[in-house]
Amino acid sequence: MHPKFSCFLACGLLICISSGKGGFQKVGDCLSVRAGKPLVLRCRGQAVRWRMPKYLEEEAEAEGRLRIKHFGQHSQLLLVNSTGADTGEYSCWARHCQDGQCAEGQEHLAKTFVFFTDPEELFVPTEDYYQVVQLRTHQPALLPCQVTNPLARVTLHREFPPEEIPVDGTDISFDVKKGFTIHRPQASLAGSLFCLASLGGLRQISTKYMLIYVNYPSSSPKPTILASTTSVQLGDNFNVTCTVLGEPEIAMDFSWEYPGQKQGRPPYTSKRVAVVHREGQVQREAESTLYVEEARAGDSGFYTCRATNLQGTGSVTTHVRVTQRPQGSPTPQ
Ligand SMILES: *[C@@H]1O[C@H](CO)[C@@H](O)[C@H](O)[C@H]1NC(C)=O
Ligand SMILES: *[C@@H]1O[C@H](CO)[C@@H](O)[C@H](O)[C@H]1NC(C)=O
Repeated sequence: MHPKFSCFLACGLLICISSGKGGFQKVGDCLSVRAGKPLVLRCRGQAVRWRMPKYLEEEAEAEGRLRIKHFGQHSQLLLVNSTGADTGEYSCWARHCQDGQCAEGQEHLAKTFVFFTDPEELFVPTEDYYQVVQLRTHQPALLPCQVTNPLARVTLHREFPPEEIPVDGTDISFDVKKGFTIHRPQASLAGSLFCLASLGGLRQISTKYMLIYVNYPSSSPKPTILASTTSVQLGDNFNVTCTVLGEPEIAMDFSWEYPGQKQGRPPYTSKRVAVVHREGQVQREAESTLYVEEARAGDSGFYTCRATNLQGTGSVTTHVRVTQRPQGSPTPQ
């Protein structure tokens, strides 16, 4: 059998996708199709699955613009009356099928990014007039201003005061298939930003992005726990302290699980925060203490502290035993 080819004018090049023995071979990772023109993609193999921009999966099929046909040895995706909004990644993979059973798995995944160039819309339209983006310490943030044409020149701007934000490729980079990525979020970047695309005589701005800086911990808390005593006599007081050492300015919440809860003992706790210097670094030490007054037999057991920050929860447990008072010893006042 002859290998099948599908060819496109792609990002200025003629690109053909073919499939040889043993799977799909991908040639070229992006295509440009004029908005309004149909897109035809073929994927060789059996029981082919397709993935495409989310919005298309939801809407285009219902509108009758998207048709997927499965043949014996290949599958074809046809998208008609295309618009700039259809821009995005299209992928397909074949599955191994035997006796009506198909194995899941995407070993032979083939993908391509399709730009539907629209002479009137340089950005893929979005429903929102503005979008909130959290700038979290230690985590890259994406401003998803997706262009419909890979040849558009895209710059990043602040609304107030109006200024262009330098894009050096290190702290901030631009990817024509994604938008701008802020690799090292900083509080100074917070505010209202937008992307500006220009192509030929056309200049357009994207949705506005409201950047909000959030002090974000690099990891979930790793608490330690210490009971004032591991063995307490009936009627005595004790306490259990949970400590977390972490980055400054990171809020920490504590919760407790303790045996007395079942008997209705109220959670009598206190919280303390201190700035400490450890190994030449400023750290924040957060502590929660659970007080148990006049220990009863039911207070014997496991004491668990859960410390939570924006990254997650860490928990730690200790055991306290409540013992009988020795014969003749006075009960504490
Ligand atoms: C595509 O557009 C043409 C012209 O506007 C229209 O007649 C046709 O119904 C559309 N097809 C689909 C499937 O939407
Ligand atoms: C916990 O109990 C011990 C022993 O009774 C006491 O010295 C300590 O101050 C208590 N801790 C807190 C935080 O109250």
